[in-house]
Amino acid sequence: MATGKANWEQARDLIEKETGPITAARELAEGRNSEMSVIVYAGSEATFVKGRRASHRWAWTQERERIINPLARHVSAALRWSAVSDDWNLLGFECIPGEHAKYSPGSPDVPKVIDALLQLQGIACPEGIDVKRAEDRWASYTQTPELLAGTSLLHTEWTPGNVLVADRARLVDWAWPTRGAAWIDPACLAVWLITSGHSPRSAESWAARIPTWQAAPPAALDEFARIQALMWEGIATDSTEEWTTNLARASRQHAAHRESRLTSQGIPANSTNAPQIHNARPADIRREPGNHLGAYHPDPLPSGTRTKANAHPGAPGSLNHHFATIVAITIRAIQGAFVGEGLPTGPMST
Ligand SMILES: Nc1ncnc2c1ncn2[C@@H]1O[C@H](COP(=O)(O)OP(=O)(O)OP(=O)(O)O)[C@@H](O)[C@H]1O
Ligand SMILES: [Mg+2]
Repeated sequence: MATGKANWEQARDLIEKETGPITAARELAEGRNSEMSVIVYAGSEATFVKGRRASHRWAWTQERERIINPLARHVSAALRWSAVSDDWNLLGFECIPGEHAKYSPGSPDVPKVIDALLQLQGIACPEGIDVKRAEDRWASYTQTPELLAGTSLLHTEWTPGNVLVADRARLVDWAWPTRGAAWIDPACLAVWLITSGHSPRSAESWAARIPTWQAAPPAALDEFARIQALMWEGIATDSTEEWTTNLARASRQHAAHRESRLTSQGIPANSTNAPQIHNARPADIRREPGNHLGAYHPDPLPSGTRTKANAHPGAPGSLNHHFATIVAITIRAIQGAFVGEGLPTGPMST
């Protein structure tokens, strides 16, 4: 189920133990996965509070975001405190300024986002944190998941709602990170650039400013472009939202661009190295609605647990979990998390 928003006043006492008396508050419509998203003002400080009910099945992601914060805070927001009661699990972050990123060609935000991405590079994902590995997350889309393996901490969800831009860009929402090859983050961003109006060549020229993308094996980039096309195609199939269709189209364009690179090098498009978007889909993916969103917004359970047969209602990895994610993302789009970003029909318009 989608979480639905709770009135922040329900957790006021718990918050004030950390902040002191609150003099003003502004609830945010964004943040559909959290039951509470509010900026509170106390003394001279503003704090962004992200909260889940303690009983919520995803409450544990708060703890993961808390552990991740020291690793990523230089490119995100510093965590000031965390607080848990019988009812709530809260994180209090430094409130950072900015608007959601505009990725369109010529947007002054894009170089800032690239700078943020550069800063992100090289953060190692420590062992012992419950983070899904890229080679597991996307395993059902590829015969060669090992191409995605690595030790970097990846964000991968470059939706404009997760990128706040002012004098610099910062990447928030570290609830669902991934461990893998460092070039994956620029490759994910490239698709968002394409969906915002960049040509694949232009998007790749931005990605190429990131040394790990530049140095990545071309076959790995080809394969990941194909994986993203498969994943977004599946998400769009499971969703009625236009933005998912736009992302599917963008990722398909990107994969086709990579394929044409192979063809121009004389490698036949039907060779084993070439992207084969429609033929390569494992037959069982389409039969599990929401499975694609599981790949987009991964849960950390072993891949074997994400099946219709053994999922129990509401468990991470279950169908309910994935449907909840669909609903959350759908509501986010409907509620206008991306509205006002200068795009004609939604976040992913081209
Ligand atoms: N430190 C911060 N300072 C100010 N605003 C913030 C901060 N962190 C997040 N936000 C705003 O709050 C929104 C929701 O935050 P976040 O994405 O972390 O929550 P979420 O519930 O996981 O969201 P979603 O499910 O929509 O991805 C962001 O889109 C951003 O606009
Ligand atoms: Mg978010």
